[in-house]
Amino acid sequence: MNILILGSGGREHTFAYKMAQSQLCDNLFVAPGNAGTAQIATNVAVGVTDFEAIKALVIKENIEMVVVGPEDPLVQGVYDFFKSDEALKHVAVIGPSKEGATLEGSKERAKEFMMAHGIPTAAYQSFTPETLTEGQAFLETLQPPYVLKADGLAAGKGVLIIQNIEEAKIELANMLDGKFGDASTTVVIEEFLDGIELSVFVLTDGKDYKILPTAKDYKRIGEGDTGLNTGGMGAVSPVPFVDVAFMQKIEEQIVKPTINGLAKEEIEYKGFVFIGLIKVGDDPKVIEYNVRMGDPETEVVLPRIQSDLVTLFQAVSQGKLAEQSLQIDERSATTIMLVSGGYPEAYEKGKVITGIETIEDSIVFHAGTTHKNEAVVTNGGRVIAITSFNANFREAIKKSYQNIEKLHFDRMYYRTDIGFDL
Ligand code: AMP
Ligand code: GLY
Repeated sequence: MNILILGSGGREHTFAYKMAQSQLCDNLFVAPGNAGTAQIATNVAVGVTDFEAIKALVIKENIEMVVVGPEDPLVQGVYDFFKSDEALKHVAVIGPSKEGATLEGSKERAKEFMMAHGIPTAAYQSFTPETLTEGQAFLETLQPPYVLKADGLAAGKGVLIIQNIEEAKIELANMLDGKFGDASTTVVIEEFLDGIELSVFVLTDGKDYKILPTAKDYKRIGEGDTGLNTGGMGAVSPVPFVDVAFMQKIEEQIVKPTINGLAKEEIEYKGFVFIGLIKVGDDPKVIEYNVRMGDPETEVVLPRIQSDLVTLFQAVSQGKLAEQSLQIDERSATTIMLVSGGYPEAYEKGKVITGIETIEDSIVFHAGTTHKNEAVVTNGGRVIAITSFNANFREAIKKSYQNIEKLHFDRMYYRTDIGFDL
């Protein structure tokens, strides 16, 4: 069958890499893609939220499966767009309905869902401009640090963690006054959870599910988890501190009630649930849902899946996931992200990347790259992820770092301490 992947990052290159290996995949398209996807698929210059252009592409190329990488098209309802169109409704769309996507699109909605289905999470209350005074009074009842979350999508910047009560009150007022535009006209104030973070990925057809490998990403730009938040600077899978007993708790207390909750609320959901967790003592608590795979978590989770990804997606689309089994590579996978100097603030694009063809024994996943003349050049903040395998995750990390020595672009930066806390 012909398949389309929406997106242009390392996540989408990894999807393309896995799906291109499938016997079921005839022609693979990526919109808009990057220089890495161009090597294994056909890139098409169509934006991920340009639904009419996506429709035209799907019809022209006789595409039967669409895999949605990022959250924006999902939150804007790309699944419903396909299912309500006579010419498109037969196409398998991997991603939740618009209603399902509110689990990521609205923090308040996600909290209400967790409360309704008994899923452990931080205590919270939400506030609007009309209830600013109550919100500030609520802050007084909490212990620092204070966690303020913009309700809507804010490009990963909508969560503030503040030590000082007066500052927290001012920030609450700023947020409700439009600091993050419409995304923060509702603000969720949450209890601070002290513990170590990890992510669990679930593939579901809305009734049944498969738990995919766990991963831990490194969000901060600086060594030792310092400095500004980024999309992610590296990742490790599996997460070494997750043992069988802890995984069982995650499945019983979080995964099952989440999938059952979706079914109970009759929400169409054929895609990924990415559950951000904090391990508080010995217990998992949910800090967020995302309705897509993570980036760079995908670069370590998907390469460990040995089962045919297109077969799994077909089963998801047909509501037959229960009939499938999942084979996982027992080895660890790790990835290190190379970024443009200046990222996550201002950075330059168009820097020539050299050395890619010399990499051995690691996988090069392109994130922000494009072609200029014959060269591969930088085209984003996060540029390339180098994924390596080994039975021992520290050896895998070492292999990625050895290969990075062979790569170069002007002002290339990466963290040298991925996995330091494990
Ligand atoms: P989110 O966008 O919800 O993932 O939040 C961004 C980051 O803020 C998370 O990755 C955590 O590091 C942190 N965070 C969010 N909620 C909490 C919480 N209740 N307690 C402690 N840290 C949190
Ligand atoms: N790496 C975090 C995310 O994709 O949201």
